[in-house]
Amino acid sequence: MSGIYFHIPFCKQLCHYCAFHKSISLQAKDEMLDCLKQELKLRKNYLGEPLIRTIYFGGGTPSVYQPKEIQSLIDEVAKYFKIHSNAEITLEANPDDLTKSYLQALQKTSVNRLSVGIQSFHDEDLILMNRRHTGKEAFDAIRRAQDFGFGNISVDQIYGVPGLSMEKWKKNLDLVFELDIQHISSYHLMYDPNTIFSKKLEKGQLVEMDEEESFKQFNYLIDSAKKHGFIHYEISNFSKEGFISKHNSSYWKQEKYLGIGPSAHSYNLKEREWNIDNNYKYIKAIKEKTAFSEKEELSEVDCFNDFVMTSLRTYWGLNLELVRENFGEKFYQHCLIESKKYLRSAHLRQEGNSIILNDKGVFISNDIMSDFFLLKEE
Ligand SMILES: C[S@@+](CC[C@H](N)C(=O)[O-])C[C@H]1O[C@@H](n2cnc3c(N)ncnc32)[C@H](O)[C@@H]1O
Ligand code: SF4
Repeated sequence: MSGIYFHIPFCKQLCHYCAFHKSISLQAKDEMLDCLKQELKLRKNYLGEPLIRTIYFGGGTPSVYQPKEIQSLIDEVAKYFKIHSNAEITLEANPDDLTKSYLQALQKTSVNRLSVGIQSFHDEDLILMNRRHTGKEAFDAIRRAQDFGFGNISVDQIYGVPGLSMEKWKKNLDLVFELDIQHISSYHLMYDPNTIFSKKLEKGQLVEMDEEESFKQFNYLIDSAKKHGFIHYEISNFSKEGFISKHNSSYWKQEKYLGIGPSAHSYNLKEREWNIDNNYKYIKAIKEKTAFSEKEELSEVDCFNDFVMTSLRTYWGLNLELVRENFGEKFYQHCLIESKKYLRSAHLRQEGNSIILNDKGVFISNDIMSDFFLLKEE
């Protein structure tokens, strides 16, 4: 079964840490909606199967579109695919868009999961990040969504932010737990190039949190989420039983997905394809029926590296027997050798045929994964 991702490339304001593709000019919103539908039609055979298990509206800010416009995209999917009766349909929404009237209309659509960007409940952090809402507004937006019957809600938070003391981080988590939501995505702040945060860092106007402090925040997150009944199923993701994100899990489980819209990525087990990350060029290409994406055929080594990276990120871990089955003895032996030192240092543990990151391994997961990666020439 497969999933469809729609990238909605608009935001009303730029957050100073964010490098996702978006434009703050909303002028082309209507034209874009039309182009997303055209792209879907053009690529209806990409997945090679009709059944869709997940639809995900990500961004940018999907909630810049009215619920009826979001529903029109879902209806368009239903024209070319069969949407599973139990499909997970997620909308990423900014708290300030979740007004009463918006939620009332959204309730009537097929969207059954909300992912809301909270980031922090402290107003001084939100000002530093250039968010459009206060902490209280974000809290109230979640409560309002619950009152309108949304029972599958995820929130995004960021830790390791300059000025986010341990005390403030604990308060953020307490408020999230108080909201009694089903899913949490907690990201360590990344200084992406071309963001205001990176520029401020270079100029010395921001000071990066030291690693020991952000490690403490991460550990506190893991412990307290577990205490509140969350499963830590992926480096940055925590869910209550039965609420693991089906859409994101399909990325980690190497399932097929079709990405629609500027900058969206697609994967059909053989190739990766990524759309142009420029709204104007994307619209022009769709209208003129010219190329709007690039693709890369995956070599065996690419597939292996992808498999290692996506598996090790999750609590299911890297299944060594599957490595042997799918890639052969040489790749299997390589994994045995690379895992040895990390098993000894308890950054990894073995359960059955799988090797899994321990909590202390999760924090250095990038180093561990890069030791497992093979170069194309090898
Ligand atoms: C693509 S954004 C869309 C969410 C939605 N537009 C919002 O802001 O509410 C998804 C999430 O990625 C996270 N994110 C974006 N840039 C990040 C960065 N540089 N470091 C850590 N997390 C980041 C934020 O938590 C954000 O909510
Ligand atoms: S975090 Fe969300 S609202 Fe902010 S710039 Fe990124 S996509 Fe837009």
